Amino acid sequence: MHKDSNRIIELKKQYIMPCLYHFYQRPPVMVKGDMQYLYDADGKQYTDFYAGVSVMNCGHNNPAIIEPVIQQIRTLQHTTTIYLTEPIAELAERVVAFMDSSLKKVFFVNSGTEANEGALLLSKLYTGKNGFIAFEGGLHGRTSLTMNLTGIDMWRTDPEIRPNIFFAPHPGRFIREMNNEKRICASLNAIEKILVQHNTIAACIIEPIQGNGGIIEAPDTFFVRLKELLARYGVLLIFDEVQTGFGRTGEPFYFKHTGIAPDILTCAKALGNGFPIGMFAASDEIAACYTRPGASTTGGNPVSAAAALAVLSYIEKNSLCGKARQLGEYLKSQLKKLQEQYPVISEVRGKGLMIGAELSSENVPLTKETDSVLEGLKDNGYLIGKTGINRNVLTFQPPLIISKDDIDGLITALERQLAGLCIPSAL
Ligand SMILES: Cc1ncc(COP(=O)(O)O)c(C=O)c1O
Repeated sequence: MHKDSNRIIELKKQYIMPCLYHFYQRPPVMVKGDMQYLYDADGKQYTDFYAGVSVMNCGHNNPAIIEPVIQQIRTLQHTTTIYLTEPIAELAERVVAFMDSSLKKVFFVNSGTEANEGALLLSKLYTGKNGFIAFEGGLHGRTSLTMNLTGIDMWRTDPEIRPNIFFAPHPGRFIREMNNEKRICASLNAIEKILVQHNTIAACIIEPIQGNGGIIEAPDTFFVRLKELLARYGVLLIFDEVQTGFGRTGEPFYFKHTGIAPDILTCAKALGNGFPIGMFAASDEIAACYTRPGASTTGGNPVSAAAALAVLSYIEKNSLCGKARQLGEYLKSQLKKLQEQYPVISEVRGKGLMIGAELSSENVPLTKETDSVLEGLKDNGYLIGKTGINRNVLTFQPPLIISKDDIDGLITALERQLAGLCIPSAL
């Protein structure tokens, strides 16, 4: 552990609210980033397979992103939206083209939480209703409403339970033995029951792959059928693409895999590649109801907008969606090979470069062992994430500029960790 770690932990303890935790027993102090690599205060290099939770899709300190940002900071940093500036308008045009769908109007904010709040507000304005459906295992943010729509107990800190919010079972969360058709029907039937009983529902919000919930996927045809069901009851479908956006799953957005576009889409994280920006988007028709004054002091400010413009160009010029698809398949196949050798990996799942490997033994989650693998990988120079309701899913969401050699190195290091695991015998 670097000597600065203890000092930083002490400062955190003294001055930051105690809810802010960090990974690792022996946490490194990160001081530098360079594409897929991070460096700690001792100069040790780490290959980053978590990208600051699905943020740094274009890599750390990528000159193609930061140079235009520095230029923008030197020229004009902030005015707010009451003045006309070019980057926000140009970004709106570019991101609508990038979505290439019925989603034609956007509103820029600072974070994923705010993007979801905005989307939920828009759905209320459009439908005149105020109830919501969300999914067990989903995560949507840190405000009172978005926490109330979060289906993971550890992230629902707000003690207030809001009325008119209903949870549905996610099709990816039923027992493994259940086939896809049964999963879809069980989930849709539960949703229809809510819709029949409550005519107050404005929208249903879903992460197309649950990120924090453990990289949980739904069968491909679920989303078409979900949208069709909701439409019959006049309820909007909101896709929270805060984690799945901007090439992560092998398409610009996850909805491109599904054959439908959501009524409202939210995103943040990778849009700014580390600069704070988020947005919600809707069709012209839905957006038309949002006419009362709406503003965000720093949402879509010139600096974040310059970053986002550079991100969109970089993703397109460097074919990052294709890279995520190809390297994601490779990483997944290598993890599946490890699974054959080490049955503690009970499942490998995900799309593109958003992959989870769950650790459990006879259906008992191996939470401590997951921590031990994370710590060991970090000591060997690899950073990965952990997710899941039981925090037992090794999570891989690297920058999309990662190489095959990086993956091979990670797999070798991971194999060493798995081989060294002591699995409790009497579970
Ligand atoms: C799917 C999803 N939605 C919303 C959020 C909240 O985003 P933010 O932390 O930018 O407010 C997160 C954060 O991790 C997320 O994963």
